[in-house]
Order: sequence, then C-alpha cells, then structure tokens
Amino acid sequence: MPVMQIELLKSDALGRIEIVTDGDQSWIRRDIRPARFGMRWIARKAAAREARVLTILAGVDGVPQLLAWDEGLLERSFMAGAPMQQAQPRNPDYFRQAHRLLKRLRGLGVVHNDLAKEPNWLLRDDGRPGIVDFQLAWHSRKRGRLFRLLAREDLRHLLKHKRSYCPDALTPVERGLLARRSWIASGWRATGKRVYKFVARRVFGYWDNEGKGRVRR
Ligand SMILES: Nc1ncnc2c1ncn2[C@@H]1O[C@H](COP(=O)(O)OP(=O)(O)O)[C@@H](O)[C@H]1O
Ligand SMILES: [Mg+2]
Repeated sequence: MPVMQIELLKSDALGRIEIVTDGDQSWIRRDIRPARFGMRWIARKAAAREARVLTILAGVDGVPQLLAWDEGLLERSFMAGAPMQQAQPRNPDYFRQAHRLLKRLRGLGVVHNDLAKEPNWLLRDDGRPGIVDFQLAWHSRKRGRLFRLLAREDLRHLLKHKRSYCPDALTPVERGLLARRSWIASGWRATGKRVYKFVARRVFGYWDNEGKGRVRR
C-alpha cells in the first residue's frame, strides 16, 4: 500500500508549506496550525483569502487549483516546475505568457499584490509560467481606480523580472511603464519598506525572504 509522503518546502511564523505525495498524486499543502501564537489569526485570514481567490480562479491554467480548505489546512494542486530565482526564465515567450496570465487574472477581477517575490513565480516544466501564493491577493468585481492601480503594479513587477532575465525583449512601451513610478511604488520606498523591514525582522525574524530569490520593489 502506498504511504503518504510529506516534504517540507518552507516553514515560517505563518505555518508550513509541504508537498504531499500519495501514490502518483502530489499536491501542495499550506498548514497554518503550527503558526506562531499571536500570528494564527493573521495566518487564518490570509489562508481564507487565498482559498476565496483560488475559487474565483478555478480552471485558469497557470495558477494552482483549490483542492480543499478546512480550517487550518489549505490544499492546492501541484505545478511541476521550479521557482523563478532557480529557473531563471530567459525565453521571451515565458514573459509573453506571464503577461497574458496577468490579464486573465485582471479580467476575473483579481490582483495578486505579491509578485515582486521571485519564489511566487514558477517556470513550469512545459516552459510556461505559474503564479502561486494568493494570500495577499484582492478580488474586486467593480475594478475601480485602486484595482487598476494594483493591477498595474502586478505588471510592473513582472516587467522588472523581465528586465533581469530577458532585458532585450522589453518593448519601448514596457520600458516606459518601468520608468514611470506610481505613487504606490514611491510611497512604498519612502515609508512602507522601512515598516515592512521592521515588522519582518521583529515578528518573522527575517526580511529578505530567507535569501530565496530577490524581491524587486
Ligand atoms: N501549487 C504549487 N506548485 C508547485 N510549487 C508550489 C506550489 N505552491 C507553492 N509552491 C512552492 O512553494 C513555495 C512556497 O509557497 P507559497 O504559497 O509562496 O508560500 P508562502 O506564502 O509561505 O510564500 C513557493 O515559492 C513555490 O516554490
Ligand atoms: Mg510565497
């Protein structure tokens, strides 16, 4: 009889991320039960948010499918591949498809809000992009001004990664978008980053994503 195997991918104050394998099936589990006391409430909120957003994105190729969300355990489908910082995508097609994926999310009223982090981007084994980690994502039916601004920030983060791995493929329009800094980005630079570093150091005990990939702001 096959035995369920669990491989730990990541562990922090908000819980653990594991690959669970049962026979020939694999999936990804976010377990927030071991979240540090005092962080449980935040961990629960964030996981519930991820579950809600993944429900809206059901059927979209390039994001995990929600398999289960049961008060503490969130299970989502596994996408075979490697995170961006490891896979270093240098094919312009990757970035074209990633842009299309962002448009798809936007069309469904979803912004991700954490795409500066390379570990949240995957290069899948078939060469196509994947996006994970919807804990900070936002869904809005109306897609008002703030939504459009955040969607543009998602795109700017993608373009920053493109500038790192595939600079020659940047179009003039994309360069223009990178050159124009939104008030969110400037505000972030001025205050947000300092607050974030403080919180991350004090509460989480890290700030740079444990050295796993750069965070482009
Ligand atoms: N569905 C998935 N398929 C493949 N790898 C995944 C999947 N979900 C997460 N991962 C891997 O696990 C890592 C951590 O997952 P993530 O959801 O980003 O957790 P966290 O919120 O702790 O950053 C990701 O950076 C990615 O490498
Ligand atoms: Mg992540």
